[in-house]
Amino acid sequence: MTTSLSELDAWGDFDRDDPFPLFAQVRSAGPVHEVTLADGHRAWLVAGYEEARAALSDPRLSKDMHAALAHSGEVVAEGLPGPALARHMLAVDPPDHTRLRRLAMPAFSKGRIDGLEARVRAISDRLLDALERRGGTARPVDLVAGYAFPLPFTVISELLGIPEGDRADLGGWFRALLDPHPGPAGHNTAVAASRQLIAYLGELIELKRRAPGVDLVTDLVVAADRDGALTEQEMASTIFQLVVAGHDTTTSLIGNGTVALLRHPVQRDALVADPSLVPRLVEECLRWDAPVPHSTFRYTTEEVRLGGAVIPAYAQVIVSLAAANRDPARFRDAESFDPDRSDAGHLAFGHGIHHCLGAPLARLEGRIALGALHRSFPAMRLAVDPADLHWNHGDGLVLRGLTELPVLLGPRA
Ligand code: HEM
Repeated sequence: MTTSLSELDAWGDFDRDDPFPLFAQVRSAGPVHEVTLADGHRAWLVAGYEEARAALSDPRLSKDMHAALAHSGEVVAEGLPGPALARHMLAVDPPDHTRLRRLAMPAFSKGRIDGLEARVRAISDRLLDALERRGGTARPVDLVAGYAFPLPFTVISELLGIPEGDRADLGGWFRALLDPHPGPAGHNTAVAASRQLIAYLGELIELKRRAPGVDLVTDLVVAADRDGALTEQEMASTIFQLVVAGHDTTTSLIGNGTVALLRHPVQRDALVADPSLVPRLVEECLRWDAPVPHSTFRYTTEEVRLGGAVIPAYAQVIVSLAAANRDPARFRDAESFDPDRSDAGHLAFGHGIHHCLGAPLARLEGRIALGALHRSFPAMRLAVDPADLHWNHGDGLVLRGLTELPVLLGPRA
């Protein structure tokens, strides 16, 4: 079904600060739509919950962009950092997907993630102490730079075994690469960052060969050298994808979740009074303001009928996890922020074979970070008008988060 909604024809022009009314409009007009992206390409947008689940588990939807585009004859500008780092589990189909995912899986098992709890708490405490010293009770502090970014970035760096002295450079390259509105000067910075990152990942792999550690990069190097389980390019791509997936998303969960809580003081007060409510709150934050509003692109390998639409072969498909998460056909009073809701099953971590491998880690980090922050500073409030918050998501809406989050912490409890 093609739509005549003018907003969809200008899909790149939605309101960045509050895209949810447009999601609702799209969804109520039908679960699947053909749309024009900001770069002029046509794509199919899946906005209904059941259709989103069906699309995400449909083997006819491929993640292999190069194979699909070779068939369609279409040429797409390669985003940074380009093909050198595009051989990771989220960009390939089975059997390569199965092989690459299995190699990283042990590091994200429940036992291994549970074992990280004390360490994540220690990182959170240290960052909160530093924030308190910087802000006192009256000076605004930026929660993104001082808490929401460094917490998951430190955790994923430690898990991968990235030496502490390298992390500042690494963080800078990722910030340059993930900047959704770089402008011409920013683009040059991103190209330079991309080159430095590719070189660095090669050096990191060599370092772990010479001096193995107890970390995921060492595990990958051992698997490559002992069993030929993956190539050097797959190894560098996997490390790259794990760093991106492992920090930016969780930074958004902590930032978006904090804004959601500050906008809902009753639920926030309940959390401060009763820490056992934290897991439900985190799930509702994930449903209500998904850090990954739209799945990464998929491509049909043959004609696919979905939600009354006929999607031709070799078409791009975007699954709107954020629209699905507020589908009134699935969630009661779907637009309301309600941590007490009994209808679980949000799609913030995706679904099917690419379901987020790091979900247990993201949940652990989100629970510790949000719980500790809000209980430590019960009088915390925004230091700017909510309308002045800068939401950083790019045109594709793959990530949604804040570039900064200025707050007044108030006294520590
Ligand atoms: C995949 C969301 C945190 C690692 C995904 C996908 C989503 C997602 C939606 C599927 C994308 C698609 O199918 O197109 C999130 C959210 C997070 C988060 C909302 C935080 C709140 C993490 C963390 C890690 C991680 C901490 C740890 C490194 C991965 C990996 C994949 C993935 C490896 C690819 C899985 C595959 O292709 O089989 N994530 N993620 N994520 N995520 Fe996460």
